[in-house]
Amino acid sequence: MGEKVIINEVGLRDGLQIQPKFVPTEGKLELCQALVDAGVRSFEATSFVSPKAIPQMADSAELYPQLPAKDKVYYSGLLFNEKGYERAMAAGVKSVAVALASTEKMNMANIRMTLDEAITNLGALITRAKKDGHDARAYVSTALGCPYEGDVPVKVVLDLAAKLAEAGADKIAIADTIGSAHPKLTKEVVSAVVKEFGADKIVVHFHDTRAMGLTNAWVALEEGVREFDTSIGGLGGCPFAPGAAGNLATEDLVFMLNESGYDTGIDVRGLRKAVAIAERLTGQQLGGRITQWWLSQEHKKAAEAAE
Ligand code: COA
Ligand code: ZN
Repeated sequence: MGEKVIINEVGLRDGLQIQPKFVPTEGKLELCQALVDAGVRSFEATSFVSPKAIPQMADSAELYPQLPAKDKVYYSGLLFNEKGYERAMAAGVKSVAVALASTEKMNMANIRMTLDEAITNLGALITRAKKDGHDARAYVSTALGCPYEGDVPVKVVLDLAAKLAEAGADKIAIADTIGSAHPKLTKEVVSAVVKEFGADKIVVHFHDTRAMGLTNAWVALEEGVREFDTSIGGLGGCPFAPGAAGNLATEDLVFMLNESGYDTGIDVRGLRKAVAIAERLTGQQLGGRITQWWLSQEHKKAAEAAE
């Protein structure tokens, strides 16, 4: 068995949040079940945010208690304020996630807080979660580039990550929210945070806007990171981060890792079914490169059978 790598599936949250068509709770559960059947054991399942800001997440309180196999699977809920925390606790959430953007303008666009307010408020939510006996993960989003302010100095990422770690975060997730990273920048930022906090505290989250997702993931892997956020079919984007395309597709990263001898615990063929469900639910054609490859294989087989 190869070395273990955790795939944290964010399709149900980051993936769906930008989708214009509301996916009913049963549909989200069907997608989640297909992913669990394929072997996925870690999810960001939903967010407890204003339904006016993100209508797709309006059903988080109904969804969370019904998520499958909760004894075997890690499900976190993203939140940004006390109201979100109370709602998450009422739904039975045991793992909370918060997301601090790296710049003033992005925090203002996303959660209407200045950077200082966001540090204080999100830090307090992490501390509260830990005091209540829960797991807490903290995102430093737009860490590899901001749609409003451009480049983000590595020192800023390190300082923000340190504040979140001080507040008690179990994991720090470095997020390339708009897919602006390239391998050199990824190496610079990821090696700095790994050096500061240790690789087992770091998660990376890439969007695949410019086809750099897999390469960036490999760079992070070489820096020792063993946990990755991905989204089934490459669903994703943030309504408040112009230019953000989908996340790195789960099937692409799982395929690369499995082929390279790592142990993701995920059967890539099981993901095929999940991609098809996500396509039906969103009415969109999805899929990373592996999905395109599957399709070409299927067409080839069908053509051979017809001969
Ligand atoms: N859950 C449900 N409703 C919430 C809420 C939460 N966590 N937080 C606030 N609200 C509601 C309030 O009750 C209020 O409703 P009303 O207009 O019916 O009275 C409304 O949202 C505005 O509340 P306010 O406290 O003034 O918040 P705001 O307008 O400053 O917005 C956020 C702040 C954080 C609530 C909002 O920007 C948000 O939820 N953003 C989501 C960000 C996000 O998910 N981004 C993508 C992922 S990174
Ligand atoms: Zn994202």
